Amino acid sequence: MPEPTPSAGAIPSPEADILAALGTRLVVLVGMMGAGKSTIGRRLAARLHLPFLDADAEIEAAAGMTIPEIFEIHGEPHFRDGEARVIARLLESGPAVLATGGGSFMREETRRRVNDKAISIWLKADADIIMRRVKRRADRPLLQTADPVATVGRLIDEREPVYRHADLTIASRDVPHEKIVEECIEALHGRLCGEVAPPEAAAGIMGGLR
Ligand code: S3P
Repeated sequence: MPEPTPSAGAIPSPEADILAALGTRLVVLVGMMGAGKSTIGRRLAARLHLPFLDADAEIEAAAGMTIPEIFEIHGEPHFRDGEARVIARLLESGPAVLATGGGSFMREETRRRVNDKAISIWLKADADIIMRRVKRRADRPLLQTADPVATVGRLIDEREPVYRHADLTIASRDVPHEKIVEECIEALHGRLCGEVAPPEAAAGIMGGLR
């Protein structure tokens, strides 16, 4: 019997394999502010030909105000409840790539939903990189403190043990964005399609497999 030839439009590629394996699930990016969730998420979505969703932008649209305004007028607990509701809604609209706000994964109910509906990637960035990136903008209410460096350190200490529950971990660092995206693709392929990433790719992938 001759080997069946792949039909036109079904050219095998890691991206096509990932899409097929994802089904209706999303790829969800978690991690600290400044880790690059939106920047990498947008590029990853383009590579996978999936819609890109940004939880912070969706929260602002739903509330009709900016995140600093929500914090100021209603307070953080109100923001967190809205954030959990918006993420629950977005998790019903897969397949897609979703960038989440840095604090959202701390809520157990959100982690459970992400686990049900998505494959999660923790973009792990160290404090120096985070500080360098968040300094450029003043729109993170949690960092409007007398000592933002200490605040970032405390948040990292509190959050990293929880971010570790993500399915995959990729080191976010100062290399071209496309390199981080490539590592996400390789890690997703390994996880979803059962292949071990080549050693070169494995350098930036830090385990975190559940
Ligand atoms: C927050 C991160 C922000 C935003 C809000 C709170 C956090 O999103 O949701 O300012 O608790 O870490 P990014 O992680 O996209 O900056």
